[in-house]
Amino acid sequence: MKNLKLWEEYTRESLHLSILLTGGIGYIGSHAAASLIEAGYDVVLFDNLSNSDASVHNRLEKITNKKISFVEGDIRDFELISKTLNQYKIEAVMHFAGLKAVGESVQNPLRYYDNNVGGSMSLIRAMQENNIKKIVFSSSATVYGVPQYLPIDESHPLSAINPYGRTKIYIEEILADLAISDPDWKIMSLRYFNPIGAHDSGLIGESPKAVPNNLMPYIIKVAKGELAKVNVYGDDYQTPDGTGVRDYIHVMDLVEGHMAALLFLNNHSGFHAINLGTGNGYSVKEIIDTFSKVTHTKVPYEIVGRRDGDVAISYASVDHAKKLLGWQAKRDLKEMCLSAWKVMSSSK
Ligand code: NAD
Ligand code: WQD
Repeated sequence: MKNLKLWEEYTRESLHLSILLTGGIGYIGSHAAASLIEAGYDVVLFDNLSNSDASVHNRLEKITNKKISFVEGDIRDFELISKTLNQYKIEAVMHFAGLKAVGESVQNPLRYYDNNVGGSMSLIRAMQENNIKKIVFSSSATVYGVPQYLPIDESHPLSAINPYGRTKIYIEEILADLAISDPDWKIMSLRYFNPIGAHDSGLIGESPKAVPNNLMPYIIKVAKGELAKVNVYGDDYQTPDGTGVRDYIHVMDLVEGHMAALLFLNNHSGFHAINLGTGNGYSVKEIIDTFSKVTHTKVPYEIVGRRDGDVAISYASVDHAKKLLGWQAKRDLKEMCLSAWKVMSSSK
């Protein structure tokens, strides 16, 4: 269910503001596009399709019943990004573009630093040159590394344990320095916990190109019979059932958090970092059981060894988001599972 009060405000404030969504064809960017357009924003998608499919553009046009501008390109292409910002009279940027596979970042760190940090530098320079100084950045709970206490609040020390996580910390630091250097910048870094689920239309969702690393897309492949079983990475953690606990958040709640962040930036300059989660933790077994029950599917699983780099428990303190953004997640785990299944059960 939508947060209706916030939606009234989003719609009132959108005023056909022109927003660039880097990574706008990807999982979270495409869901943000659907909501922003519904609220009345003018949206331009910018994506190099390195981890997404151009068909998402058509599906977004079907969902919104609108023509949507899409520029195929790389954020490291300074000339193109600068031209796009200027041509579409962009007023704010939501920066989703980035590579996000933790294991791959360990194998190929330079690709991650080049794409994520280099790409962000190119984008921010182009924004500065075009005098566009409002940005919402996709950060991650991975910046906190191994939790020193729970729930994890925004003052928790930052200490990522892999190159992917470090790219997020470096980008945040660059953005924070920029805000100090020039008080006109309005910057929000949103630290996502574990986004899952999909748009109600069933037309867009999370569809990774390779075999999924993340739990929910893996469960879906098993439920569809494309993979034999879920490997549950350890049942000997200090958690109620021994399996890992995470803060899963519905992607539509997450994008509403972005819209609240955009409104917040209307009246606040400087650099801000806010967690986006529900504040609740669910174990791997609870996710598999709930998914299986609400979708009436069988999800065989086997307990295997722990995965390197995994932590036992991670969940967010959501106080800051409530206080500063007036936003909180509304959708429950059942809705997350059902919406994810609706889109993925019918796709190949
Ligand atoms: P995604 O891979 O589905 O979307 C990212 C999009 O960015 C893709 O469409 C890809 O083609 C594009 N892209 C990548 N590099 C690019 C470049 N150099 N130029 C132009 N486009 C480029 O991933 P997502 O799940 O939608 O994640 C979006 C953002 O949120 C990422 O920055 C990711 O690190 C961050 N994040 C995601 C999660 C998650 O669990 N999904 C959690 C925390 C943070
Ligand atoms: C969730 C739980 C696994 C797969 C990762 C990134 C993080 C962020 C989100 C971007 C854990 C268990 C998983 C499987 C399993 N991304 N699991 N079998 O590890 O919390 O976070 O994605 O920023 O940076 O590290 O999410 O979905 O991979 O795992 O048992 O096949 O499911 O051990 O407990 P994670 P996940």
